[in-house]
Amino acid sequence: MCGIVGYIGTKNAVDIVYKGLQQLEYRGYDSAGIAAISGGELLLEKEEGKLINLEKHLSKFPTTQEIAIGHTRWATHGKPSRENAHPHATEMFALVHNGIIENYEEIKSELIKEGYRFQSETDTEVIVVLLQKLYDELKSIEGAIAKTFSRLEGAFSLGILAKDDPESMYLVKQGSPLVIGRGSGENYFGSDITTFAEVAKYAIFLNDGEWAKVTKDSIELWDHDGNAVKIKPTPINWTPGSADKHGYRHYMLKEIHEQPAVISKAITNFVEGNQLNSEALGVNALACEKITNISIVACGTAYIAGMLSKYFLEDLTSLPVNVDLASEFRYRKPHMLKEGKTLVIAVSQSGETADTLASIKHAKEAGCQIMSVCNVAYSSIDRESDSTLLMQAGPEIGVASTKAFTSQILCLYLWANAFSQRIGTLDQIGVEKMLEKLSSLPVHVNSAMNCEEGIHDIVNRFYEFPNFLYVGRGPSYPIALEGALKLKEISYIHAEGYASGELKHGPIALVDKHMPIVALAPKDDYYDKTISNIEEIKAREGLIIGVGDDQDQTLKRLCDAVIACPQVDNAAFQAILTTIPIQFLAYYIAVKRGTDVDQPRNLAKSVTVE
Ligand code: M6R
Repeated sequence: MCGIVGYIGTKNAVDIVYKGLQQLEYRGYDSAGIAAISGGELLLEKEEGKLINLEKHLSKFPTTQEIAIGHTRWATHGKPSRENAHPHATEMFALVHNGIIENYEEIKSELIKEGYRFQSETDTEVIVVLLQKLYDELKSIEGAIAKTFSRLEGAFSLGILAKDDPESMYLVKQGSPLVIGRGSGENYFGSDITTFAEVAKYAIFLNDGEWAKVTKDSIELWDHDGNAVKIKPTPINWTPGSADKHGYRHYMLKEIHEQPAVISKAITNFVEGNQLNSEALGVNALACEKITNISIVACGTAYIAGMLSKYFLEDLTSLPVNVDLASEFRYRKPHMLKEGKTLVIAVSQSGETADTLASIKHAKEAGCQIMSVCNVAYSSIDRESDSTLLMQAGPEIGVASTKAFTSQILCLYLWANAFSQRIGTLDQIGVEKMLEKLSSLPVHVNSAMNCEEGIHDIVNRFYEFPNFLYVGRGPSYPIALEGALKLKEISYIHAEGYASGELKHGPIALVDKHMPIVALAPKDDYYDKTISNIEEIKAREGLIIGVGDDQDQTLKRLCDAVIACPQVDNAAFQAILTTIPIQFLAYYIAVKRGTDVDQPRNLAKSVTVE
């Protein structure tokens, strides 16, 4: 994970790098640091904990420095501490790193044998020590970088400053993302374009195996063998959108509340009169008629959105649909992937999740078509895909995914309809019937928000329980998984999601009067069976929090509490509506327990290591 950023130009570089790190905190927030060159000296400040802890050190830098690099960390090797924070430095070099050096132990023991000493437990420090050693031998910065690069194994993007060359930043890219922002009389680099999207006109995405020398007026690029690479700038026509809390206590709460607007915007973006906009939905860029099966890959909440979409994708397309965790899929044999015939759909809010990205590459090698459902334009997953459905849900800052999840459900559903129409398994009448129901979705999403008020009583009754179960049937099963994931990641309460039908195959043994169970019970095709399962829980004295129709007397009779949720006659739309109560429940329980809701412990918004 980790975010790296750098600037060279005529402005206050430390200021710019610090602001860049604020944009990248989603990639890790356990420590941070900045290095700059000023007056021929390499200056370095770092601090443990959130980025804000570094702020007090910024005044130690002179205001005149025009070159700086920075890092925000998510610990992989060595605990979060000041010593392990980046940049790591030697007499000549300061270096920031995103990724993992797989052969660091081997290099480290060689260096130790030669008498080199280390200050940190990180894999990163071996790079800078090796660089120093090779520079001492070769007396060439570029030569030392090239040789260091050839020794490293793993995934890494590096930003390097050399004290004796205060006019240049050096960059190396292998596996982890790295992009240069070209300005006029100034240049930037970052783990993604958000750090400079508002100030640089062009982005230059480095490919694996490339390295660069960047001055304020020039950019030179080489491949692994030292051959010059032609620079291909991409104009930046995108701004990341507002990252303001708009008066909400947490980003997560703001993002939950943004859902009615996000859903309405998706309708505007993807529907034109009585037609779906198949161009914006990414259908037109695919050779649809060749597709015989669909494989969805994703992680975390995005995986759950994929899982949910299987219910309507199979139904609408009549094609077999596979859903895999990207971390598993990337190591599976490609027999399941049929050249030219399998469509792989990667779902990712950030577009930078390492396992999802690796899965795309794996599927590409097998000759599959790749589509992604992404929220961040120009992200690695967007750029690797044959076609991208850009969700346009606006920046999601809270680590717990909320509006991205409901947006992913809707986008995948609209895509499934447009694709099915293209391949002939859905006719125009079917599309129009669906669009009619879609038109009232924003109203229902708005009224689903009303459950917020009543949730506090439930939170007060249940927030101290150490374990929760979530259960649901059909499309409510993935929502049960999502409910449990939301609760555990922000409140640190142990929670598990189960298909209701699975309860009696084991988990029901956990049920007693100390176990709260969130039972998702919309009035759908599975309702009667869901109620039977709730009866079974009741018979074992489980504490039941029902999510469903608040006029449903059966539910009221069986449950200890009911969270109201509007009911609609469409499985995908109902899933969106059922999600909102479980988001509020997790949020307010976490607030009551006093956890760090937006930046929970041990997590990062974007998981860029495997
Ligand atoms: O950016 P992505 O959608 O690829 O991220 C995938 C997961 O890391 C993410 O959904 C994670 O599970 C969230 N923290 C869940 O709230």
